[in-house]
Amino acid sequence: MKPDARGPLPPYFNIDPDAALSHLGDPATTKGFGAMARACEAGRSDLASRGLEENGGRRLRQFSTWEITRYLIPVATGHFRRVLKQNPDLPQGRSETDGGAKWFTLDEVLRLRAHFGTEGSKAKEYLPYRPAGLPAKMVAVANFKGGVGKTSTAAHLAMSAALDGYRVLVIDLDSQGSMTSIFGGKVADEWQTVFPLLARHYALHLRGENQRRLDRGEAPQPLDDTLSDALEVKAQSLVQKTHWPNIDLIGAQLNLYWAEFQIPVWRMSGRGWKLWDALTDMLAADGILDQYDVVFLDTPPALGYLTINGLAAADILLVPLGASFLEFDSTGRFFDMLHSTFSSIEEAENIAARALGRDGLAFQWDAVRAVVTRYDGSQQAELAALMQAYLGQTLSPHRQDFTALIGQAGEQVQGIYEADYRDFNRETYVRGRETFDATYAAFKQLLIGSWRRDALSTQEAAE
Ligand SMILES: Nc1ncnc2c1ncn2[C@@H]1O[C@H](COP(=O)(O)OP(=O)(O)OP(=O)(O)O)[C@@H](O)[C@H]1O
Ligand SMILES: [Mg+2]
Repeated sequence: MKPDARGPLPPYFNIDPDAALSHLGDPATTKGFGAMARACEAGRSDLASRGLEENGGRRLRQFSTWEITRYLIPVATGHFRRVLKQNPDLPQGRSETDGGAKWFTLDEVLRLRAHFGTEGSKAKEYLPYRPAGLPAKMVAVANFKGGVGKTSTAAHLAMSAALDGYRVLVIDLDSQGSMTSIFGGKVADEWQTVFPLLARHYALHLRGENQRRLDRGEAPQPLDDTLSDALEVKAQSLVQKTHWPNIDLIGAQLNLYWAEFQIPVWRMSGRGWKLWDALTDMLAADGILDQYDVVFLDTPPALGYLTINGLAAADILLVPLGASFLEFDSTGRFFDMLHSTFSSIEEAENIAARALGRDGLAFQWDAVRAVVTRYDGSQQAELAALMQAYLGQTLSPHRQDFTALIGQAGEQVQGIYEADYRDFNRETYVRGRETFDATYAAFKQLLIGSWRRDALSTQEAAE
């Protein structure tokens, strides 16, 4: 017989049923999931403990003179060195070898930037634009499609904004807690997540209602333990420091998912509760929006109550998606769901508002942009161009390239900004960094534009 020129048969032919059975193992049980979870947990802590500091904390890498003058403080290297020499009180950096490059912590970089900002040329942008007296801008990154790059985009934007000198708060609304892991957060239960802020907002609503009930001579609705406890929780007590000096975190873990069951129960018993205002109201009431410049909200791949809260709180909404048919299709349905969800909230509110002669509710965002992530120009140019043609301005013109740097960064280093460029081929590093810098630049354009609009209208109102 002649050997078959087509090579061996594909692997799905001739599977022997008895051999298949012998590989199958026992039927799975609920208990089995417990064992799987424990195995993952053990592997995870093994990974997470590698390369940690002795106290178990994460440490951010240092930044070299090259990187600082190239990416962070735009001055000539010679000038940078001269300024340091003339100002011995400024951080001088450390070198690993005699006469080698000087390295600085991010804290030191921030001090240097402040120095250049006050002493340096006024023609240069050392400190990023931030109108005084206006609240932080809240930015939600959302799409109900999973794995489109929400967390990676939000984390990289948070890090670039921090490197740029902004004070950043990251809020994890996803009970998967990926963002929390990236920033090394420790969250014991739902009481260290945004959950108590939502509960407090409802408790305050209920208290107001009870006052009205008492005034009408009716019996008040008692506040249960959860609600009474939540009344004592301030946002500041939920905020954790991270290994980034100017990034703080309100973390998440599995129990946060409980909010998806609890919120509809509260909505049923308190019909007038404005759940969509909960996050903004509580963050504003506790002064959080004055303590930070930018707040990033990472959301779960679902349009549940937590996502709705995040979306309603956001000033800027970014919707990441890959340039593939399935992601484009599903993102279209996501926008459709946003339309029906927010218009049904507006309609319900506005019936009540009209009856009471009050102003209606109309949600508004400074900007909504779809952002192409994991872009492969050699395969996806045509689809991306089509998406651009249909979405117009809604699609951010910058496409975030697929980069191996994200997958390559180790368990202690999350993404491009935490990685040491010496660990990579210089060209790979520069290209990977450029694509995320451009993602940030496109975002910063929206941020500054919306602050500017607010600043002008505040000014107009004052005149
Ligand atoms: N620009 C990129 N280049 C290469 N890989 C990327 C890029 N952006 C994201 N990824 C990878 O894609 C995967 C999904 O990303 P990510 O976790 O950010 O998505 P997500 O939308 O937050 O997912 P989920 O819906 O589960 O929350 C991750 O493995 C991430 O490392
Ligand atoms: Mg995610």
